[in-house]
Amino acid sequence: MVGAVRPGNLESRAPLGAIRQATPPRACIASGYTGFMLQLDCITRAYELGGERAGVFGVSLEVPRGCLAVLAGPSGSGKTTLLQLAGLLDTPDEGEVRLGGETVSALPERARCDLRLRRLGFVFQAFNLVPVLSALENVMLPLQLQGVPEPEARLRAQAALERVGLSDRAHHRPGQLSGGQQQRAAIARALAPDPLLVLADEPTASLDHAHGGPLMDLLAELAAERGVTFLVASHDPSVIARAHRVFRLADGRLVEAT
Ligand SMILES: Nc1ncnc2c1ncn2[C@@H]1O[C@H](COP(=O)(O)OP(=O)(O)O)[C@@H](O)[C@H]1O
Ligand SMILES: [Mg+2]
Repeated sequence: MVGAVRPGNLESRAPLGAIRQATPPRACIASGYTGFMLQLDCITRAYELGGERAGVFGVSLEVPRGCLAVLAGPSGSGKTTLLQLAGLLDTPDEGEVRLGGETVSALPERARCDLRLRRLGFVFQAFNLVPVLSALENVMLPLQLQGVPEPEARLRAQAALERVGLSDRAHHRPGQLSGGQQQRAAIARALAPDPLLVLADEPTASLDHAHGGPLMDLLAELAAERGVTFLVASHDPSVIARAHRVFRLADGRLVEAT
């Protein structure tokens, strides 16, 4: 079968908190997998709109495990399009997406959905927290969608909120949190399922520039502690300055990789 995901390669890694450390690790990327977590191989995704051709064209990039990578470039350069392809929310017209060395872009939707839920984390520009749920309930949500029993989901969500420094706001709803606190709740929600790769689309765009540095410091700590790989789309200089790797896009093409 094309692009079959072998559980051994994409299985769980460093656990989120003490509770999870009691769980024996499943066959394991942590001990074995040291290669590129994300590889985009000659990706093209074209949109035709009113005779204009836009999108991303022939982009190849590789992000090692535990790397904090930034997709930089002006508005319209293709950052969101690439994140959606890397996040298996969209499929390329040409080229391949590989996660943990496995081709995943050609998998059927059901398998892609399963990978999104169990292996990928998303932080959206507007954070997309559910307004009627508390911070804790928001963080529990992806775990419960995976079928994690409520008591375990609660403990893991509490551990995730603690890790991002938001324990004291666990029972606040998003509307009762500052922008920076919502951002941290969104990061906790992305992290709670122990993803391999977290994709963040302009996570500081709705905040002032003071948030870029602390956000990237937190993500760098999480990358080092757990081997989580991050791909952050941003044109915020304070975000770009702290990246381990920067991929610059212009007009849908990769123009620089550092
Ligand atoms: N669904 C779509 N339909 C048509 N054009 C699109 C669509 N999504 C993105 N584009 C176009 O693709 C280009 C890249 O967009 P995008 O990836 O959103 O850029 P960025 O996130 O860097 O601002 C832009 O020219 C945009 O207008
Ligand atoms: Mg965008």
